[in-house]
Amino acid sequence: MAADEQKSRRRKSVYTADRGYPGAFSGETVTRRALFTGGVLAAGGIATAAFGLPSLGFALGPLFQEPADEAFLDVGTVGDFNTETFTPTVITLQAGASAGEAGKTTVYVRQAAPGDENTLDQPYIAISTRCTHLGCPVRYVQASARFICPCHGGVYAADGAVVGGPPVRPLDRFETRVSNGRVLVGPRFSLNSSFERFPPRDPSNHLDGVWKYLYPPRPTVD
Ligand code: FES
Repeated sequence: MAADEQKSRRRKSVYTADRGYPGAFSGETVTRRALFTGGVLAAGGIATAAFGLPSLGFALGPLFQEPADEAFLDVGTVGDFNTETFTPTVITLQAGASAGEAGKTTVYVRQAAPGDENTLDQPYIAISTRCTHLGCPVRYVQASARFICPCHGGVYAADGAVVGGPPVRPLDRFETRVSNGRVLVGPRFSLNSSFERFPPRDPSNHLDGVWKYLYPPRPTVD
């Protein structure tokens, strides 16, 4: 009985020598196998973090950035827009500011009306004309209240939701503000089919489900 008790106490001892490991040193509490296993796991964790953390910061960083005032462009007075129809306005995108005509793009703007769905808390709804399929310019048809893409038949509702054709997500939008009676249009953002906001993506980038992780934003997308 006493011998069994002694054996069990030795098995539970923190010392490897007591537990009968071959080649154990006196006073050693960690086996070399456990030490190497821990070392390899720690090195793997550090390597994964070295690649993963910058990517994560790159993907999530823009979500916490407030657009600067100079990122907003004046597109007219509040009286130039109404709640009924979109008015096409031409703006110069920030990254394309030195690109002359090539940096210009058309944005459809209208005032958000009380009771409008999917205004995303913007005082004015500013919709990008870049088709989210392959980037052709879409055109708003007032009679049918649809945005139509001439390239492959993409059709969007008046709020930019896809209602037909191959586009993969709603039309992108721009931030809007009102300052001193002027309507300002700011940075572009993308939407998934539930109208959740994302940093701007390229055409053809899906944003539903796991796709949002597979198509992270690029700094050059504006
Ligand atoms: S580019 Fe618009 S539907 Fe293909």
